[in-house]
Amino acid sequence: MSSPDVRFYGRRKGHDLKPGRQRLFDETLPLLRLPDDVPQDLSDLFATDVDEVQLEIGFGGGEHLVHQALTHPRVGYIGAEPYINGVAMLVAGIERESAATIRIFDEDARLLLPKLPDASLTKIYLLFPDPWHKARHNKRRFVSEETLDHFARLLRPGGEFRFASDDAGYVRWTLARATRHAAFIWTAREPADWRTRWPDALATRYETKNITGIKPAYLTFCRR
Ligand SMILES: C[S@@+](CC[C@H](N)C(=O)[O-])C[C@H]1O[C@@H](n2cnc3c(N)ncnc32)[C@H](O)[C@@H]1O
Repeated sequence: MSSPDVRFYGRRKGHDLKPGRQRLFDETLPLLRLPDDVPQDLSDLFATDVDEVQLEIGFGGGEHLVHQALTHPRVGYIGAEPYINGVAMLVAGIERESAATIRIFDEDARLLLPKLPDASLTKIYLLFPDPWHKARHNKRRFVSEETLDHFARLLRPGGEFRFASDDAGYVRWTLARATRHAAFIWTAREPADWRTRWPDALATRYETKNITGIKPAYLTFCRR
């Protein structure tokens, strides 16, 4: 699936998948993949009853998503990630942990946002998105006025957009755009609020590698 307006700049594929992962990719992923026609009531996507639905964009290896799903069994999760090796890791994690409440969109999340119904989500996670720190690449960043407009439409009042990054430039970029967006309020009251990982979150794979050596910022924006 592609759109003339959406050009993906990241990696779609790394090393070849090992046979076990390839089998999961070929046989199990089709069962977990989001259908083309997304239901108006997103809870219909899940085999068990869920009270709310949340979205993680760019889930990498999916460890945060599986952790959330095991911690909150009455929440349904949609994960969007175009990197095939990451998707295969998530499918393996779902099978290993019997996590029954995750559906996968294995494409660019910008193609998913317009398909989702208004006020259908209670949280959107964007954890350590690709920083695109060179000035000429900044416009490739996932956070933009356009994606924030989608987040505002998709989140219920009181819902949260959670953003984490160890790139100071991207943190400033996101703060500037989200705080001037009429639909969002930055919830931090003191430095510890943005310096401390959310209590129910697991350090992601990228975060654990700590490539930059810089302490991440964790920003929470509440949908008015
Ligand atoms: C630096 S990695 C972080 C992965 C994971 N969140 C973590 O913290 O370990 C950024 C991820 O975002 C994914 N990504 C980049 N652009 C994306 C897009 N437009 N839609 C969905 N995922 C995207 C990449 O494929 C990559 O897996």
